[in-house]
Amino acid sequence: MQTSVAIIGAGPAGLLLGHILGRAGVPFVILERSSREHVLGRIRAGVLEQGSVDIVTSLGLDAGLRERGLEHGGIHLQYEGQRRHVDFRDLVGRTVTIYGQQALVTDMLAEHERLGSTILFDADDVAPHGTDGPDPIVSYTLDGTRHELHADFVVGTDGYHGICRQSFPTGTLESYERSYPFAWLGILADVPPSTDDLIYALHPDGFAMHSMRSRTVSRLYLQVGPDESIDDWSDERIWDGLQTRLGLSGWTLEEGRITEKSITPMRSFVTSSLASGRLFLAGDAGHIVPPTGAKGLNSAIADVALLGRALLEQRAGDDAPLASYSDRALARQWQVQQFSQWMTELLHVHHEDPDASARAFRYRSQVGQLEYVTGSRNAMAGLAEQYAGLPF
Ligand code: APR
Ligand code: PHB
Repeated sequence: MQTSVAIIGAGPAGLLLGHILGRAGVPFVILERSSREHVLGRIRAGVLEQGSVDIVTSLGLDAGLRERGLEHGGIHLQYEGQRRHVDFRDLVGRTVTIYGQQALVTDMLAEHERLGSTILFDADDVAPHGTDGPDPIVSYTLDGTRHELHADFVVGTDGYHGICRQSFPTGTLESYERSYPFAWLGILADVPPSTDDLIYALHPDGFAMHSMRSRTVSRLYLQVGPDESIDDWSDERIWDGLQTRLGLSGWTLEEGRITEKSITPMRSFVTSSLASGRLFLAGDAGHIVPPTGAKGLNSAIADVALLGRALLEQRAGDDAPLASYSDRALARQWQVQQFSQWMTELLHVHHEDPDASARAFRYRSQVGQLEYVTGSRNAMAGLAEQYAGLPF
């Protein structure tokens, strides 16, 4: 088989890149290790920056988003019994839209199927070869038979655990990373959200947040230890934790049936390059953020917007945008990394620190930082600008 762009991984990054290429008439094939059902079933992020919404809209993929997306003009920051609103519309004239990654993936896949795109699910042992030469090949196994796909370019949108980053020539990549001594326990609950805008709360017990998926489904998170098991968190214990950490006098957190619960570790990771020869990385394959700034999905979309355009420009005879893709995407990504780390450290409690005085000092400093951020229009505008999204 022969194509122009072999895309490895059918997450949001791979599916979106397929739409950018397909719209311009560029042939592509998407190879995905998991089943279609598995790809559609993964519950993940939920906040789209304005720039992400614009791209999805420009590709005509916005019908579901328009119908079911919830536009938000700000967030609440809560600490020490106070809830302060950060008004993005007023501060920077921008908004974000709550629309589950799962819904976006469903919409993009449905449109691919309508267009007749080639997406091969359940592809085993996908492996790029010869990407540093002129004729890359991706080999894979489907129904027990080994195949080869010849392509002009190979794009790894295969997530953090994917094969493409590992396929870079030995010794050419460095990793910059840190893990955090906490994780997020996330739930979906059948209950209308108890809040208008998202609530991010710092509490002595740890971070909590209130997000949503629709007018009838709430998404909530609790900071837990990195090694905790979901089996130790009964529904009652989860609601107790949420009530304590999000509680505010005069406000009620409504409870409902929990339909999904899981624990996700938190990590910051950036690879030193997103390009080697004719192989390119985009999305989680190249970088991971802790979820506090809601940047994982948006970073994947930002990469793909840059890479998609660069691939089209290359076909039109201009190699420069593709040659500078890695540098441009990583320069933006490091700003996003810094913001995500800052939001994370602002709102989480380092229970693991054995030094009680250092712990208390850190917590009081976080409260001081929250007082400053919510009290200074300049500081709030900085937060709003980054949360609503840097330019693509
Ligand atoms: N071969 C083929 N497919 C693979 C391989 C492989 N060796 N390894 C991984 N994949 C697939 C995964 O099954 C998954 O469907 O690549 C896809 C990667 O998708 P994501 O992990 O969703 O990554 P990405 O598209 O970059 O989206 C980033 O996902 O993790 C969230 O918070 C993150 O919202 C962000 C978004
Ligand atoms: C979510 O709705 O899943 C969500 C919202 C904001 C975040 C992270 C996750 O920062």
